[in-house]
Amino acid sequence: MKLSASYVMDLPLPFLVSTLGVSAIVCYVLFFLSGKAVEGRRRRPPLPPGPRGWPVLGNLPQLGGKTHQTLHEMTKVYGPLLRLRFGSSDVVVAGSAAVAEQFLRIHDANFSCRPPNSGGEHMAYDYQDVVFAPYGPRWRAMRKVCAVNLFSARALDDLRAVREREAALMVKALVREEASSTAPQAVLLVPLGRAVNKVPPGSFKEIVLEVMRVGGVLNVGDFVPALRWLDPQRVVANMKKLHRRFDDMMNGIISERRSSRFQQPAADEESNKDLLGLLLAMVQTEQPLTGGDEDRITDTYIKALILNLFVAGTDTTSTIVEWSLAEMIRHPDILNQAQEELDAVVGRDRLVSESHLPSLTFFNAVIKEPFRLHPSTPLSLPRMAADDCEVAGYRIPKGSELLVNVWGIARDPALWPDPLEFRPARFLPGGSHENVDVKGADFQLIPFGAGRRICAGLSWGLRMVTLASATLVHAGGAA
Ligand code: HEM
Repeated sequence: MKLSASYVMDLPLPFLVSTLGVSAIVCYVLFFLSGKAVEGRRRRPPLPPGPRGWPVLGNLPQLGGKTHQTLHEMTKVYGPLLRLRFGSSDVVVAGSAAVAEQFLRIHDANFSCRPPNSGGEHMAYDYQDVVFAPYGPRWRAMRKVCAVNLFSARALDDLRAVREREAALMVKALVREEASSTAPQAVLLVPLGRAVNKVPPGSFKEIVLEVMRVGGVLNVGDFVPALRWLDPQRVVANMKKLHRRFDDMMNGIISERRSSRFQQPAADEESNKDLLGLLLAMVQTEQPLTGGDEDRITDTYIKALILNLFVAGTDTTSTIVEWSLAEMIRHPDILNQAQEELDAVVGRDRLVSESHLPSLTFFNAVIKEPFRLHPSTPLSLPRMAADDCEVAGYRIPKGSELLVNVWGIARDPALWPDPLEFRPARFLPGGSHENVDVKGADFQLIPFGAGRRICAGLSWGLRMVTLASATLVHAGGAA
């Protein structure tokens, strides 16, 4: 139908007036809104400052071998909230306790996902684990399984004997100069239970160390999509190979456990006591992982979870034990004082047990210093912005990767007098940091991260590090 002037003239007057009125209001609203939008755009906070990067690679070539140290130096130039580009990815770095707190407390929900990467895809069963899983009901359910069966106060107490046995073994191994390589054994044994004995000796350790080595390489293909298919560092090829080895080993362990349960049903109850037995029982009874029926726990989830426990809980623990010993050897006065306290609390004729730990006031202060000066994951694990947000007056675009410089923050002279000094007294009653803990509430010291995705094994890791270091120091004093 054609609209002509005569057609308009033919319309009744009230209809014409109301149509013109509505049009005027619509125009006004549109004009008003577009003005607001322009004004809003003009008022948008700036992006955080940071060094100019190279074409295509961005700031990747400027990172050097020790990324946390380079970023710490950049923080001194550009301020505590930095913006970088790793290839095509936006990266923001929290370099002060105040900025870290903004991200991990105020905006924690927005930063509860991890950015996708080749490790999550090719080694962690396409993100079906806890460390890389997208934030949501399945991640929550997997964490709950660990929290209840492995890390709750009751589960930790049940497994106390295992950790104590491992600490004793570590002392023996130290004599053979293998302390760091044996520290992880307790963590490995617990989830797998008796089945682990069937695996050829050395396989676990070898695979875990290799997973950590390959997973620790910064894969350029993760940041420069054009290089992904080329895999110039052969990271993805190595990951796939390693993944097959781990998967074969786990399949062997799982089928071994299933067949032994079939042959010896009486042993069922006993073997269910470890995490593997419990998870396999959940698969057998087709128990849903989350509330819905669609998400049942599978063998793949089990394998991914056990991979996490291996990788996240081994090197992290043993490097802190090594550093605590190295620092005490460098500071004989502190070592002597620690040995005196251990002799007084434990005595000379027996090994340290976990029940002694709460009474070791000095030693508990000592153990916080290696966590501060030598955190095992100096940049924590990356998080990703689910949405645009504003932090410390800067705009953080959706999809930005967040790195928290845990190492740099714990050396900030504004928060730590003489930050480079190994000085446990700062954590003692009456010291400058008497009430500061490592458990994620004090942002100047967050070796286990903070917020929703804080380390799932914090209580286990902390107990293991304290017990192992105390056992070694005590045994050294007795030698
Ligand atoms: C000294 C020992 C340890 C240190 C320093 C450490 C440190 C960390 C850090 C910094 C994170 C990332 C937290 C964040 O994003 O805010 C993390 C995550 C994690 N850690 Fe630990 N960790 C230790 C021991 C362990 C142990 C013993 C286990 C398990 C047996 C474990 C399991 C995990 C898991 C599963 C995650 C992923 C949590 C998630 O994404 O929801 N860690 N750890």
